[in-house]
Amino acid sequence: MAKYRIAWLPGDGVGKEVLEAAKIVLDDLELDAEYIHGDIGWDFWCSEGDAFPQRTIDLLKSVDAAMFGAITSKPAKAAEAELAPALRGKVAPYRSPIVRMRQLFDLYVCLRPLKSFRGNPLNYKEGIDIVVFRENTEDLYSGVEFSPVPDELAGVLQKLSKPFAAFSSLKGDEYAISCKINTRKGSERIIRAAFEFAKKFGRKKVTVVQKANVVRATDGMFLEIAKEVAREYPGIAMDDANVDAMTMWLLKNPFNYDVLVAPNLYGDIISDLCAQMVGGLGFGASGNIGDKLAVFEPTHGSAPKYAGQYKVNPIATIMAAKMMLEWLGEEEKAKRLEQAVAGVIREAKVRTYDMGGSSTTLEMAKAITARLNVPVGA
Ligand code: IPM
Ligand code: MG
Repeated sequence: MAKYRIAWLPGDGVGKEVLEAAKIVLDDLELDAEYIHGDIGWDFWCSEGDAFPQRTIDLLKSVDAAMFGAITSKPAKAAEAELAPALRGKVAPYRSPIVRMRQLFDLYVCLRPLKSFRGNPLNYKEGIDIVVFRENTEDLYSGVEFSPVPDELAGVLQKLSKPFAAFSSLKGDEYAISCKINTRKGSERIIRAAFEFAKKFGRKKVTVVQKANVVRATDGMFLEIAKEVAREYPGIAMDDANVDAMTMWLLKNPFNYDVLVAPNLYGDIISDLCAQMVGGLGFGASGNIGDKLAVFEPTHGSAPKYAGQYKVNPIATIMAAKMMLEWLGEEEKAKRLEQAVAGVIREAKVRTYDMGGSSTTLEMAKAITARLNVPVGA
């Protein structure tokens, strides 16, 4: 029996291609693993009314880790229109399977390391090394939303909230409400994960990203908890920044930042900004990590316009596989893999279209594979 069971979830579009690339590399590293395919994505929504079928949920309950490609998501109306006619009106509205997966399996840490590889022509600046800890299960992703707003809810809000007076004359279909729900537990565990990471890897500072000056209840609580947790880590500096100012400061001086921690939506936004500084979509790897299961993915989408062309850069996914190796405790393989990726980038012979070259997805994977046995530091 193999040492690890890994769920393999290619999903849609280029998701299939980048996972194929990651598989080439993992096979060459001789990871002792059994890879089990799982159905997920748009086709299953259209044919079964569920983009994340129960059989895939069951599979995820039985594995050590998973690799996930990408999923096509469409707004509710478009989704309904593509659903098999017999299912229309009978199934729950479309929701992104990755968001469901994070919540269902309590994958509360979204870990996004954004490091510029030396010689990458897409670097904003050389030497950027930022790690984003994004809360991954709550906040504006809670799914508690109302459109139209039921009268019952409006009645309660009118009783309990003064500012609601500005909206109380509206009819239910004249506005919509999306709830930002943040818990103490959820806030504390992501903040603690960021500090633990800083401690383990000798990082100097954790920056708490929020908007507590306006969003007082939820972000105020997040910031307050961060200050409490920070006291337990005297060797690590803590500062905080409003999410809007943060976008400017990150561009102005990315070297001022080390570890960032943020509630779900701000983390989503800030991590895309950081990804762009280290090469864009082809370089953003992501880990969705819980206490029992972790799912690794590139942060990019399924890029329908490139599907089938094998031209997208697989490095984000290959670096996600590297994060999976670390999570499994396969440090040596992870190191070799990262070094091989760095070597290929530095060498500048094999480059995908985003990097200004014409190499294919699989050529990139093979070039990385060819360097897996180059001694460390060469
Ligand atoms: C991400 C993506 C997802 C998110 C989408 C695809 C639902 O943007 O992983 O960052 O918003 O979390
Ligand atoms: Mg995102």
